[in-house]
Formats: sequence, structure tokens, C-alpha cells
Amino acid sequence: MAAETLPYRNARLPLEQRVRDLLGRMTLEEKIDQLHQCGAGDTNPNNLPLLAEQFRPTYGSFILNGAQPDLALRNALQRKCVEESRLGIPAIFGADVIHGYRTIFPIPLAQACSWNPELVRQACAAAAEEARAQGVDWTFAPMVDIAVDARWGRIAETFGESPCAASIYCEAAVRGYQGLEAGTSPALAACLKHFAGYGNSEGGRDYSYTDISPQRLWEMHLPPFAAGVKAGARTVMSAYNDLNGVPASANRHLLTEILRNRWGFEGLVVSDWNAVRQLINQGFAADEAEAAEKAINAGVDLDMADGLYRKHLGALMQQTRVSPGTIDAAVQRILRVKFDLGLFEHPFCPPASGEDLPPRGDFLKLAEEFAAQSMVLLKNRGDILPVAGSVCRLAMIGPLGDEKAALLGAWSQQGRAHEVVSLLEGVREKLPAGVQLRAAQGCAIDGGGRDGFAEAVALARDSDLVLLCLGESAQMSGENASRSTLRLPGLQQELALAVAATGTPVVLLVVSGRPVELAAVEPGMAAILAVWQPGTRGGAAVADLLLGRRNPSGRLSVTWPRTTGQIPIYHNMRPRARVSPNGEYQDFGTTPLYEFGHGLSYTRFAYSPIRLRRPTVSPDETLQAEVTVTNTGRRDGTETVLWFIRDPAAGITRPLKELTHFESAAIAAGASRVFQFEINPARDLSFPDGDGRRILEPGEILLFAGPESARFNVAL
Ligand code: BGC
Repeated sequence: MAAETLPYRNARLPLEQRVRDLLGRMTLEEKIDQLHQCGAGDTNPNNLPLLAEQFRPTYGSFILNGAQPDLALRNALQRKCVEESRLGIPAIFGADVIHGYRTIFPIPLAQACSWNPELVRQACAAAAEEARAQGVDWTFAPMVDIAVDARWGRIAETFGESPCAASIYCEAAVRGYQGLEAGTSPALAACLKHFAGYGNSEGGRDYSYTDISPQRLWEMHLPPFAAGVKAGARTVMSAYNDLNGVPASANRHLLTEILRNRWGFEGLVVSDWNAVRQLINQGFAADEAEAAEKAINAGVDLDMADGLYRKHLGALMQQTRVSPGTIDAAVQRILRVKFDLGLFEHPFCPPASGEDLPPRGDFLKLAEEFAAQSMVLLKNRGDILPVAGSVCRLAMIGPLGDEKAALLGAWSQQGRAHEVVSLLEGVREKLPAGVQLRAAQGCAIDGGGRDGFAEAVALARDSDLVLLCLGESAQMSGENASRSTLRLPGLQQELALAVAATGTPVVLLVVSGRPVELAAVEPGMAAILAVWQPGTRGGAAVADLLLGRRNPSGRLSVTWPRTTGQIPIYHNMRPRARVSPNGEYQDFGTTPLYEFGHGLSYTRFAYSPIRLRRPTVSPDETLQAEVTVTNTGRRDGTETVLWFIRDPAAGITRPLKELTHFESAAIAAGASRVFQFEINPARDLSFPDGDGRRILEPGEILLFAGPESARFNVAL
């Protein structure tokens, strides 16, 4: 049969038939090569570049993480694969497209503060379009780990501490990356990572052991992955962490029993970078061969970077330590994704789209909108913001004022710092005529001396209002970027105190990849805006909020502690045996500086009491809860109603409160809007046991929305 008429090449045949046909033609060596992924330009500083590696055209996949998208390299590698291999199987090219590709959107932790999943979807769709044009077929995103320890640098990559919110954002991200239409090829293949429990890294140290009870695993860490599988994510990445003694990348219970057998996931599982070899470091495998054996038998199909499958699977099969069926199943899963993406029909990326063009106008607009909706107004004493018309002399002080790279955050390798609007540029551009804006750096982000203090203090004294721009560099969060303290780095806290001591009102703008410790400086600040790492259009969005051209609407997706020592602290903690003030820290109490869900607006919203249709709900019906929110101020605004539940007495104790539903809506000044929550007992009121079985118990449930609460009963 001529090559072109072979069944696996026939796009009209059902996908499964093509997969089976191709598999049947492959030699063992070709199969094992398909299970290998190697680097082809990798700028993840944690991962040694593998560019020099001699590759074979039968390799399954490449990582394409270059700082400059290298479409020519991608197409050249692909040409070798499809033209110089016996069966012409195309490679799949993966990259870390995390919060944008060329256009950089806010970091995911910030995105989650918008409570706007539709913006997450749009940003992922935009990133998919940009990445696809540069030859990326597969993104290693969304990251849906849950973290409650902000020392862990990767908290920046999460959607915050709520499993409910992360699940909803995860679904939106998968739809954004992969595309909306059922039955068509995904735009990019999405990858749910890191499966599972990585966000619980001990002490916030990266790559560490995680001790997670089965109960906590099911209620905190697994839900976003389950949501992503349900949304149709094509791939999953196994995590680095040792989970209760069995590293996630060799954890059969996770990868096979839960992911495939219980959830029915049919896609591909890729290891994290070198995670198979790292089983040796973790004390779970004696040597490379055992590491490969344990990973593939647990359910890792594709070996990222370390080459152990390629090196050892042949011998492991001969020794019957790995079965032919296991290899075939893994190969089938990678082939399925390739067929699904249309790679056999379109292996190359059109070179015309390979030019390094600046971001598109509509994407920049989206980035600015998203940045503005992600920022959280934490404090606004005496309504000092928006900047009043009486302010004539404005000062911008601090090392983050004229910074560009820091605004991009981690994982923005294709983002260009020179294209970023800094806070200084943003404010300068939008400031009304006649207002003077002067800047002083004061000190470096980290290290350095106090030489700039005098100039900064003098400028503050000679100004009506100070915009104090403090925080972190891009390298201070993300992978392998944990900090032992959330304190402002270097001399920044000292600078803040010196500037505040002048008596000129100070608005603090915090640029960071995590909540930072503000206990010492907060009392001296008139207003505080969490800017996060807002991406390419960050400065423009900040200016709109400060100057009142937009009304802030972001709400925290993560609890903001007073001090590092309060970690872990999160909204869905369980109640303790004695009530306050028993059990509190003597120095700082146990309340955070800002609660999960906190966020101010330039207007005020009043809540009606919660209305419930009935006082009781049974498992086969739903119960409608409603609250009317009125904008009582003089500005239009957007309010997010966060619905929390509490089960005050249960067979397995439940959290003090737990986010269960949310909705945002614009409300014009003076207008009201009704927000509804259709409570579905099985979905919203049941909870998992340590084996993931959902339990629904009769009894009282408390419901909270804004300052309001109500009670109802579950009757079985
Ligand atoms: C990270 C992953 C990432 C991979 C590829 C790893 O070190 O943990 O999140 O997708 O590298 O760059």
C-alpha cells in the first residue's frame, strides 16, 4: 500500500482506528522513542538547556521554551521527524504558556482576583493564538495547584486558595486554550498540572515532601483537576512532590486509580521535567532503571527531559518488569493527542507567521482590562483614592515605580520588558494637565544602600500625595523562587517608614507574586493597592484605577496574612477547640490583615438579607438563595458576591466557611441587582471522605453572602 493510503494517514477514518493502525506498524524502538520528550530551546532557568542533545526523528515530543520563538528550529525538527523517520510520525511541541505568550496577562493568582472566568478564557484563547502561530502545539498550563503558603514561589501561578474558584477558572482556561467547539481540533492541547498536591510543599520550599491526609487531598487538591478532566483537558502533568511517601510521578493511586479509573481520563500524562530521574533523589528508586519502571507502571506516559524511558524501557520489557501492554497504552495516548491536534495533516507551522511581531492591539486591550480587574484595593482611608483634583504635586517613590521586567512576573519568557507600561509611564501618560509628577527610586528592590533615602524623603515632603511603589522582582516568585519570609525585600520597609514619617499621605502600590508582609508599614499608609504582577499593560491599568477612570473591583483570591508566622492561614480552615481569644498568637492574633475575598470599591454596596425559597432542601431538589445588592454610592461599580457555606456539625468536621459559588456584575450608581445561588445539595453541600466518596448529611447549613447570613436544613 502506498504510504499516503495507509489507514493511519487517512483523516476521514475514526481517530481510534488510525491510532490502532499506526501502533500496529511500530517497532518496539519506535514506540519507546515516542515516549521521550526533549528540549529544543529551553529558557526555564531551572532546567538545563538540552539543545545540544542528538535527537532522533522518531522522538515523540520537544519542549519549545525559547525566549525568542524559534519557528524555523521547530519546523526543521519537525521536517526531520516527518521526512526522515520510517512512519513519519510528527512530533508535538510543548511550551510553558502560563499567563500569556507574547502579550503578558496578569499572573494567575491575580487573574483569580477578578472573579471573571470569562476573562481567563479570553486570555488563554489569545495566548493560544499567539503561541500556535509560533509553532507551539501544547501548553503546560493551566496550573491548578492549591497553595496556602505564600512562601512557596509558585503560589503566583495558582488561582488562589479556593478549590471551588480554582475549579471554575481551570475549566475556563481549558476552554480558552483548547477552543470552544466540540468535535474540532483543539487550538492548543492544555495540561493540568501538577498532579497532585505540589502546592502543599513543606515549609513553602519548592520540590519538597508533602504530607497530605487523604481527606485533605480530596477536598482541597483534587477538585480543580477533576474539573479540568471534565472540561476535556487533553493532558496532565505529574508533580514533583513526594506525596505521603510515594512521589506523585510514580504514584499509581493518583495516576491510574484516581485519574484514569475513577475519572475516566483518556489523555496523556507527561512527567514534570526530570521527575522520573528525581525519584532516585527522593529515595523511591535505587537507580535509573527502577525509576523508569516505577513511573511508567504508575501511569506516566511521556518522560520529560531525562531520557530514562528511552534508555531503560527496552531492557525493562525483556526482564518483564514492564509489560508490552503498558508501553502500547502509553504510546496510544500520545498518538491520540497528535491525531486530535491535526498534526498528521498539518505538521508544520506556516513560516509567514514566524515574524516577531509586537502584540496585537486587541490583545493589549484585553491585557489592560484584565490587569485592571485583577488589582485589589486593600485599603482606602478617608477615600483618599481616587487621586483628588486638589493634588497638584504627585510623587512616585520606590524601586518598582520605573520597573518594567518586574511587572511581567515569572513564566513570561516571550514577553518583552520594553513593551511593558511601567507604573510611572502609565500614570504620567494619563495624568490631567497641570499636575506635576516627580519620581525617586529611594532604594533597590533588594540589597543596595540608603543613599537614595534623602532624595525620596525630600520629594515626599514637597508633594501633596506619594505613590509608593514597592514589592518584588519577577525572579522572587515562580518556580524555585520560594522565600522564607513574606517581608518586603531589601530596605523597602525602611523606606516606607521614612516616607510615611513625612506626614504626606502615602498610597502604597504593591507589585508582587504573593501577599507580602505589611504589618509594620500598613498603619502609615493611607491606601494600599495590590497590583500583583499585572503584565504588559500593568502601568496603564494602575493609572486608570488611581485616577478614578475605573472603579476597582478585584477581591483577594488568597488570604493576606499579617506576618509570615501566621502561615498557613486560609478562609477554609477548620474551627479550633476553644474560641477566641483562646489559641491565638500572643503577638499578632489569628486574623489575617486582609481576608480572602476582601477588596474595596470607590462606591459602596449594601446587601439585603438573604432570601431562601424554603427553609429545607432534600437531595433531589435545589434551593434558591437570593440577595439584592444596591450600589448606594455615586459611582458605577462592579460587585462580586461570594457565597460561602458552613456545615456546623458533620461526621467529618467541615471548614469555618467554604467558598461555594460566586458571581460578579456591574451595578450602576443607585441601582440594585439580585444575585442568585441555586444550591444543589449533591454538588454544593456534600463533602468527600478520605476515599473521595461524597457524603451528604442531614442537618443545618449556614449560608453567607457579604455581611449577611441565613440558615436552612438538609432533610434526607
Ligand atoms: C516545571 C513545570 C514546567 C516544566 C517545563 C518544570 O520545572 O515544574 O511547571 O512545565 O518545567 O518547563
